[in-house]
Amino acid sequence: MELATALRGQTVQNKIREVGINPNYWYPVGWSDRFQPNKIVPVVIWHQAIAVYRDAEGHLHALENACPHRGVELHKGKVHGTHLACPYHGWEFSGSTGECVNIPYLPKTQKLPCAQARTFPIQEKYGLVWVFPGDRALSDLQPLPEAREFEDPDWLMVPVTAHFKAHFSICNENAMDVFHGFLHEDLQGWFDPVLTDLKETESMVRAEYQVSYKGHMAKFLGLTDRADQVTTLPIAIQYSYPHYATSLQGISALYLMRLPISPVESRSFALFFFKVRLPKWVLRSLRPILSWAIPKFLLQRFLDQDVDMMESEQQTYLKNPRRRYVEINPAIIALQRLIVRQYEQFSQQPGGSPSSHRPTGSQSSEDAPSAGDLPQAENLPAVKSEQAVGGVTR
Ligand code: FES
Ligand SMILES: [Fe+2]
Repeated sequence: MELATALRGQTVQNKIREVGINPNYWYPVGWSDRFQPNKIVPVVIWHQAIAVYRDAEGHLHALENACPHRGVELHKGKVHGTHLACPYHGWEFSGSTGECVNIPYLPKTQKLPCAQARTFPIQEKYGLVWVFPGDRALSDLQPLPEAREFEDPDWLMVPVTAHFKAHFSICNENAMDVFHGFLHEDLQGWFDPVLTDLKETESMVRAEYQVSYKGHMAKFLGLTDRADQVTTLPIAIQYSYPHYATSLQGISALYLMRLPISPVESRSFALFFFKVRLPKWVLRSLRPILSWAIPKFLLQRFLDQDVDMMESEQQTYLKNPRRRYVEINPAIIALQRLIVRQYEQFSQQPGGSPSSHRPTGSQSSEDAPSAGDLPQAENLPAVKSEQAVGGVTR
């Protein structure tokens, strides 16, 4: 569906800061090198604690991080072959089925009790480990995001990890929000953004903006030929629930793989691709140093500024979840609508249990203020809403 691109004030419905995830997608849990053979790594995908390990043969396994015997966290245990042994009494669980396959003190003649840890589909791609926390029958139907540049040696990939003390909606709005170039002014980010096109489907929002660049950073990134020259380029930002793909006209591509952890904590694993204008042999030898230096000296400065804003936004929200906010970018409103819709669709499915995926933070989505539950007059934003409490409704 094509949406209007005009900027106009709309009130944000606060339940966007309280919704859970639709778990029927693949979520990244860490870079591959974090998962060394025979090491068990605890990860969390929206309240779901999972013990991930790689066996000696290199195969990955993901089990619920709670022993079926007494609930001890399995990541404190040991890898025995392809099995995971709990640290407390040594019960062993199969990495593929989660079934208890050995209890060291049970006589061999006796039958094992019926005890099974939940297992999760797991795979590795783009240097990341991915887990499917939802209905395992759907895992084969749901593809991973496509990052074509990953296999192409002409692109330099820079991995960047980010940790936000903020709800995933706040982080996702930051990535869709090209109008915050103001924040990065001192880093010579970008200026004069214009939203030129906006589309929305059941699971995707795609916005196209026109953005201008100038300065040494733009020259380094190949956006302009000279630092004092202004270049205006189209940029496409696509949120395909629950991850991002952004493309800047064959110059760079950015994939933001998101990991929502709790209502106030999220992680992001970014694959940043640059088309570097260097001979291939030079690029090959410079690749390790560029992959280290670009995030450290360039991207991290942008990221730090963004993190500061996102965490500030979250903190103010928590102090008064009833305060109303106003947005004028229709791309943000469409994104919020999608995030709420995905959660509600999952919650309403047979077997979609919102209770196990529901936020346990300050307030549940069901408790979010209704239209009649208005904030204090002094907290109302200065801009008058054109669509009462319409931020996340169609
Ligand atoms: S608690 Fe895990 S074996 Fe007893
Ligand atoms: Fe930013």
